[in-house]
Amino acid sequence: MKHIAIFASGTGSNARKIVDYFRDNEHVKVNLIISNNANAPVLEMAKDNGIDTFIINRDYFYDSTQILSELNTFAIDFIALAGFLWLIPTYLVNAYNQAIVNIHPALLPKYGGKGMYGMNVHKAVYEAKEKETGITIHFVNEKYDEGAIIFQATCSISSEDTPKEIAKKVLQLEHQYFSKVIDDILMTTNK
Ligand code: GRF
Repeated sequence: MKHIAIFASGTGSNARKIVDYFRDNEHVKVNLIISNNANAPVLEMAKDNGIDTFIINRDYFYDSTQILSELNTFAIDFIALAGFLWLIPTYLVNAYNQAIVNIHPALLPKYGGKGMYGMNVHKAVYEAKEKETGITIHFVNEKYDEGAIIFQATCSISSEDTPKEIAKKVLQLEHQYFSKVIDDILMTTNK
């Protein structure tokens, strides 16, 4: 059995999709949700699904390596970032080599980096009059949005689409693909 931890600090719609996808899976289990926001709606979802949660603050995350023991307690093999905005510290990247993935709501390497999250991304795409956008699922390293790209999917943008509509199309792609890509990685690697 492989165990996943999801790091999420917002609504958690992707986290919910991942939890639903693996609910009856015999080989993969989501057994921990970690958040830096004690009020994040994703925690409610975790509770409803009987998944343990853990709240972190900056000191804990950056000035100690205690989270490794926590992850160890839950036998975590793989980490999915789904709306988690903090940079992952080097000790964690090294401990989970090629076993941390993030989903980004644009076609990296465009529209990535610090500050490029949520509506900031979609507004930038809109302002650049892009004809298409999409999602990128990538391995995580110590830099924002720079790890190796695993998967991308695109959607077209029409001249009438507002940033809000672009966001909707992109979120739909995220929901469609993120769990499946995680499943594929877990099937094809020994993570
Ligand atoms: C998604 O757009 C994802 O690409 C980004 O953060 C957002 C999280 O949304 N990393 P949700 O909390 O899963 O609804």
